[in-house]
This record gives sequence, structure tokens and C-alpha cells, in this order.
Amino acid sequence: MFWATEDYGQREAESFIDLVASGSEHAFAISDREDRTFHGLCSLNRVDESNRTANLGYWLRATSTARGLATRAARRLLVHALEDLELERVEVTMSEANTSSVAVAQRLGLTEEERRSRATHVGDQQHDARVFAAFPSDLERLRQAAADIR
Ligand SMILES: CC(C)(COP(=O)(O)OP(=O)(O)OC[C@H]1O[C@@H](n2cnc3c(N)ncnc32)[C@H](O)[C@@H]1OP(=O)(O)O)[C@@H](O)C(=O)NCCC(=O)NCCS
Repeated sequence: MFWATEDYGQREAESFIDLVASGSEHAFAISDREDRTFHGLCSLNRVDESNRTANLGYWLRATSTARGLATRAARRLLVHALEDLELERVEVTMSEANTSSVAVAQRLGLTEEERRSRATHVGDQQHDARVFAAFPSDLERLRQAAADIR
């Protein structure tokens, strides 16, 4: 993630909280229902109300991977986006080298739309990107799969 640098500190965290409070990013913590352990974040960003579109993002703490948490959180947030916010398109874009993120999109059953040449910058390199999207026609399937998630 571009912001996950060695010198990330309180000021950067406060800027992010301000961004969420301004309503331009719908960010949700992924936490344990019982003991509230913080595992990561799942968010809708670049929400464009006039076009009814948004981008989906997710990340986990390194100690919280390989348990299905990102897939389940993303599924629940997609239901919120398509049902409550009535968005028509929610896009997920990642570097083609980010196989873990590609696997999340595939596990969610999203439609792969295109590959964009040199569309994403990771570290100090430019990567080709894969683009997936969810639509209202996915809602019922996602809702059923997300039924046990709060
Ligand atoms: C992308 C990222 C969130 C994926 O994490 P992840 O742990 O692979 O994804 P999930 O939490 O969905 O877990 C899936 C794994 O748990 C397993 N799993 C266990 N129980 C599961 C369940 N109930 N449902 C789904 N998967 C389950 C899956 O088999 C899979 O394991 P595998 O990779 O060995 O096949 C993580 O790699 C990350 O934070 N990367 C850095 C940030 C980033 O790149 N974000 C995306 C930007 S577009």
C-alpha cells in the first residue's frame, strides 16, 4: 500500500481519520466480534454519487491473513454498497503481481473486465493492473453468502 511506509505515524493516522470523517471514504475496521482485535480495514473510496460508482479496497495485518477475513469483509461491504448506497458499480483494481488481492476478487466472484497497462504504482515500480467489478446483479448472491457476517 502506498501509505504503508516506515515513517507512518500519528499525523498520518489523524489525516486518515479526518478523511473518513469528511465522508469521502467509507472505511470499516475488520475486527473480532468477541474480543475486538483489530485485523485490518475494508473501505469504499472514490465514491462518486452522481455516477453511482466507487472503488473497493482492503488490507489485513500480516498476522491476520489466510483466514478469509478480507474476503468476508469485502463481501459484506459490497452488499452495503449495492444495497444501502444503491451503487451501480464497485470496482477493485490491483497490480497483476498482487496475487492475494486477485484471489480475493476471484473468491468474491467479481467480473474481470480488463487489464490496464502500467496503471498502478507499487513501491518504486509501475505495474500492469487487473480490474474487477461488482454490479447490482451480484447483490443477491453476495447477500446470501454474507448472511452470517455482521
Ligand atoms: C490482499 C489481502 C487482504 C489478502 O489477504 P488474504 O489473507 O489472502 O485474504 P483472505 O483474508 O480473504 O483469506 C484468504 C485465505 O484464507 C483461506 N480461508 C480460510 N477460511 C476462509 C473463509 N471462510 N473464506 C475464504 N477464505 C478462507 C483461503 O483459502 C485463503 O487462503 P490461501 O491464500 O492459502 O488460498 C492481503 O494480502 C493484504 O493485506 N495485502 C496488502 C494490501 C493489499 O494489497 N490490498 C489490496 C489492494 S487492491
